[in-house]
Amino acid sequence: MPSTCNIEIFTTVDFSIFPISMRELIDKLESTQILPKEEFAELLLCNDDYLFERARFKAQEIYGNKIFMRGLIEFTNHCKNDCYYCGLRAGNAHAQRYRLTKQQILECCKQGYPLGFRTFVLQGGEDPHYTDDILVEIVREIKAEYPDCAITLSIGERDYKSYERLFNAGTDRYLLRHETANDEHYGTLHPSKMSSANRKKCLHDLKKIGYQVGCGFMVGSPNQTIEHIIDDLMFIKELEPQMVGIGPFIPHSDTPFKDKKAGSLRLTLNILAILRLMQPNLLMPATTALGTLDAQGRELGVRAGANVVMPNLSPPDVRKKYLLYDNKICTGDEAAECVTCMQGRMKKIGYEIAITRGDALMNL
Ligand code: 5AD
Ligand code: FES
Repeated sequence: MPSTCNIEIFTTVDFSIFPISMRELIDKLESTQILPKEEFAELLLCNDDYLFERARFKAQEIYGNKIFMRGLIEFTNHCKNDCYYCGLRAGNAHAQRYRLTKQQILECCKQGYPLGFRTFVLQGGEDPHYTDDILVEIVREIKAEYPDCAITLSIGERDYKSYERLFNAGTDRYLLRHETANDEHYGTLHPSKMSSANRKKCLHDLKKIGYQVGCGFMVGSPNQTIEHIIDDLMFIKELEPQMVGIGPFIPHSDTPFKDKKAGSLRLTLNILAILRLMQPNLLMPATTALGTLDAQGRELGVRAGANVVMPNLSPPDVRKKYLLYDNKICTGDEAAECVTCMQGRMKKIGYEIAITRGDALMNL
């Protein structure tokens, strides 16, 4: 449908002021994987659950009713960075810092394997204690003991050589949220020594090396506009990652953003749905932040197109110390508890957790 009408009498009427139907918009997004900015904005701001239906249908077409599970091992909460939103920032003197040893990390995997985990995600702050040598040894040992499992690292920005060594040691995937594709916005979320350019370079390096790569961003981070989110969608289209992590911003009381508002549930779900329709094969978690914002957040995430859940596999005594934001859920006593809980939650909405590595199905 043209945005302006050709008929003489209507030449001054701009048809973009009339919303084209949701169905047409979504068909267009599915076939072209991109939309003009105004149409992206319309979908982002829409209140029509039809968007979720279409996204859910798309996910089911590819992944059936299967949800992939990742065991999250939060192995260090030390961080040299000072991101204004994050509870682990170096400047937060209230954080009780910890590091897990190789043995403790292997113990998490040992607990996780019989529970059905076939991916272990080692996540941490940017902690210089974990040199390439130390990490290579950890990755090698996990791989030697669990050759049928995938290893994902999520440990921030490193140089090309380091990413290469970790990949050669057996790491399969790397998560590094780009946080925002807009340089100026990035500058309002991070101290000046960090840059969106370097973040993007890291993501391109990781892809080039051969990792399955995940980027992503928080919804409702301070100063974020709809235009920024559209830029994020464009960036994702260009990068073509295998995974995207989207969760609401939630303030942490010991950060400069303590008084900022949390992100919107609806907008987070709309973004998940749009991404599912744009890049149908994506692996997208229904995040813990979404579950923290709303008691049914993860279920709603799956019903809007997410297909991954990441129960916590960290040792019980450190869980309450890995606090990126306030009121984080799943900081309870046992790994098994989260798994059973998650299986039950998924079953209730008609999904089943698959015991598999859950690699992305690309180029279908
Ligand atoms: N609220 C929500 N998500 C956060 N993250 C960090 N701090 C917060 C917060 N306050 C996200 C960032 C980071 C990921 C590991 O967690 O996007 O990349
Ligand atoms: Fe952790 Fe429900 S998933 S308690």
